[in-house]
Amino acid sequence: MGFPSPITSFHTSAYPAIDPTLATLSSKGKNIVITGGGAGIGSEIAKASAQSGAVSIALLGRTEKTLLATKQTIEDESKATTVRTYVADITSAKDLDHSISAHTKEFGKLHVLVANNGFLPLKQSIIESSLEEWYEGFEVNVKGNYNLVRALLLHATADAAVLSINTVLAHMAYIPGMSSYLALTIATAKSFEYLHYEHPSLFVLSINPGSIKTAMNAKAVGSWEPYPYDNIDLPASFLVWAASNEAKFLNGKFVWAQWDVDELKKMADMIRGTENFTFGLLGWPKGRTTN
Ligand SMILES: NC(=O)c1ccc[n+]([C@@H]2O[C@H](COP(=O)([O-])OP(=O)(O)OC[C@H]3O[C@@H](n4cnc5c(N)ncnc54)[C@H](OP(=O)(O)O)[C@@H]3O)[C@@H](O)[C@H]2O)c1
Repeated sequence: MGFPSPITSFHTSAYPAIDPTLATLSSKGKNIVITGGGAGIGSEIAKASAQSGAVSIALLGRTEKTLLATKQTIEDESKATTVRTYVADITSAKDLDHSISAHTKEFGKLHVLVANNGFLPLKQSIIESSLEEWYEGFEVNVKGNYNLVRALLLHATADAAVLSINTVLAHMAYIPGMSSYLALTIATAKSFEYLHYEHPSLFVLSINPGSIKTAMNAKAVGSWEPYPYDNIDLPASFLVWAASNEAKFLNGKFVWAQWDVDELKKMADMIRGTENFTFGLLGWPKGRTTN
């Protein structure tokens, strides 16, 4: 299946320009927080960040076992990185304040936040759904990221990178049964866009990670047809690139991990400071205003 794309090179796995071990993408000296860091995409982002030289990584999530497993893998492979795990529910402001203050107290201010927590509601029409299932994603993504950003702002460097894992579905047309997920992912994208405007010294970017075989994705199988899978090393490496100086022209935008970064860099002037790659009303007529 083909997607519409602003670039011609569309990747399904990591490639040399986003190799986390490149000196130009180095995370040396950076303290990085990753929510949902024990499993799936978050765990791989943590491993790639360690390969890139992060000095410390805070892994947040509710499941201690998976957090500890990711920590062990990183500490075996990347001796320069210290990993701390924090059992935290993103919907609890108290859990986040506690985790983020504890990490900052030990390592100093935070340089990168990866908001990777997520919940995929069952594919059901509004009338078929229960409020609990329909609304849970708003708790985990919308309220959760609100808590997360407020905790982060107290403890981040002025130019910290805030990377939100979102989804392609946020800007796709009507998909039956997906009212909750599409609504919450647009709400999430808009919240991060506002963070960008309210704190212009930060670097804020929303990212579609691709279609990756994970526990969350498994919930979708049989419920809606998944697109062909991308390799999990693609979003992991792309996130390291997104936190580097090379991506600065994308501040405040929404991009896909599959888009070739060299092609994106060539488009910097038509992206930076424009409304391109943001959410809005389709078909808005140019140059026409009310009187
Ligand atoms: N896989 C895909 O194809 C795909 C496509 C587009 C977007 N995404 C996005 O990618 C992100 C990662 O998902 P994934 O595919 O890697 O699935 P996953 O393996 O199921 O990861 C979801 C993560 O979110 C964490 N989480 C969920 N509820 C939480 C809560 N209340 N508090 C703290 N952490 C919570 C989970 O940790 P605990 O359960 O331990 O708390 C888990 O680590 C999500 O935001 C998802 O929407 C994935």
